[in-house]
Amino acid sequence: MTAPPPALPAKIHPRVRAFLGTRDVLEETLTRFGSPMHLVFPQVYVDNLQRLSAVLDQCLPQHRICYAHKVNQSRAFVRAAASAGIAIDVASPQELAAAIAAGFDPTRIEVTGPKGEAFLRELIDGGVTINVDNLWELRRVSELADDRAEVPVLLRVSGFQDAAASRFGVPLVQVERAFELLTANRSRIRFLGFAFHIDSGEPTERIRAFDACLALIERAYGHGLTPSVLNIGGGFRQVFTADADRFDEYVIALRTALLGRGEPMSWANNSFGYHVDGGAVHGIPVFHKYGNTVSATTMLAELLAAPLERHGGRTVAQVAEDNLLTVWLEPGKALVDHAGVTVAKVEFVKELADGTTVVNVDLSRDSVTPADQEVMVDPIVLHGNPHARTVDQHESDWVGVYFAGRLCLERDLITNHKVWLPWLPQPGDVVIFPNTAAYHMDLSAATASMHPVPIKLAVEHRGDVFQICHDHDYTPEAPASDDPRRFSHVDSDGAP
Ligand SMILES: Cc1ncc(COP(=O)(O)O)c(C=O)c1O
Repeated sequence: MTAPPPALPAKIHPRVRAFLGTRDVLEETLTRFGSPMHLVFPQVYVDNLQRLSAVLDQCLPQHRICYAHKVNQSRAFVRAAASAGIAIDVASPQELAAAIAAGFDPTRIEVTGPKGEAFLRELIDGGVTINVDNLWELRRVSELADDRAEVPVLLRVSGFQDAAASRFGVPLVQVERAFELLTANRSRIRFLGFAFHIDSGEPTERIRAFDACLALIERAYGHGLTPSVLNIGGGFRQVFTADADRFDEYVIALRTALLGRGEPMSWANNSFGYHVDGGAVHGIPVFHKYGNTVSATTMLAELLAAPLERHGGRTVAQVAEDNLLTVWLEPGKALVDHAGVTVAKVEFVKELADGTTVVNVDLSRDSVTPADQEVMVDPIVLHGNPHARTVDQHESDWVGVYFAGRLCLERDLITNHKVWLPWLPQPGDVVIFPNTAAYHMDLSAATASMHPVPIKLAVEHRGDVFQICHDHDYTPEAPASDDPRRFSHVDSDGAP
């Protein structure tokens, strides 16, 4: 027996697997709405929320989860968040409007990111919390707000020791100027506390940032300010792979192929950020996050349990509690992890001059790929005819292909790495791109060549049936007041 070909099996949520396994419903959905389509699963979102909340509830009495809307344009997710009673982090006037339309009270809305004059003006009267990105914003808020307006403000800071350079936030070295503005404008600005956002899986970076913010809180008290919030941002990781060993094996095979040994595994010699030199492969690939095995809940639990040297070894959670701080989080991808897939159809299959097989589908790379990254989970291919025999799988049947999109651009390759499939796809076969809800669906999707972006549908499992509707029309079942889906901390987080 020869070994199976390299593979990148995707982790799939049981609810999503159940839906994909119900071929009649999938077929009906394709017939009704057409291909391609993005499917979002708000119930998976709520599962993720419950898991994160459970970690927080265990050791942190005062906390607030703000769903980072930017991760997906889905209205269904925003409505699920509103119905669960959490808060929301919005980053544009459009996201703000979506949050208000979904029923968020302004006191449950936080606005992050760089804002610009027009947006700032809109926010000042709105009662929302402005997470200030820079000193210009802070100054403009103080100039534009009415006396006694008491605009709730968080100050985002950056420039922590050994952290990667960031263009966001007020550099730590400039915080003294922020203190001057905050103390001079107390009647206009209600200073809630400090915020940071680090997009790193490295635990020490977040712990260091937390500790640096604690030091800032002490300094703020020295200025007569009374901050009570420490916002630790998002960045809690997803787990894409169902089999970390197979992921590693794939990467080893890819590295070997980059050295010119064995079957080529990358389109046009793409090296994915690796640097090939002196007969060896060096560096960290652009796709490293797809091999992650540490879940968001583990990351969060470890952060909260981390001892802080400057505080006699007390943990992050204990220090927050002792100082009566409310910890805010802004998870995006952790909440939508596994809560979306993208479905497309094979248009045609083409063999190139060198024997390379390309499977063309009816969407473009931008609809399933975050910006410049390479998605390292295998698409799932289903027979276009659901009643086709299940294929007997012999090793000799495996075929290595690249998936290509429908734009007339060379760069519209959905996979630049080779994907092995148990049979050669045929026009009309259905291709599922797993776990696309976090930044994959919407971040870079464009209507290039005037192709519309794929339709977005919400799938809900009610009783024994799957119900499908336009994402915009989705209404969550209202959780009863004693339902665990409604989060207990909602009115006890000491927030504004
Ligand atoms: C300020 C801020 N908060 C939260 C997030 C959400 O991050 P994630 O999806 O990694 O949790 C982002 C993402 O860019 C962000 O910029």
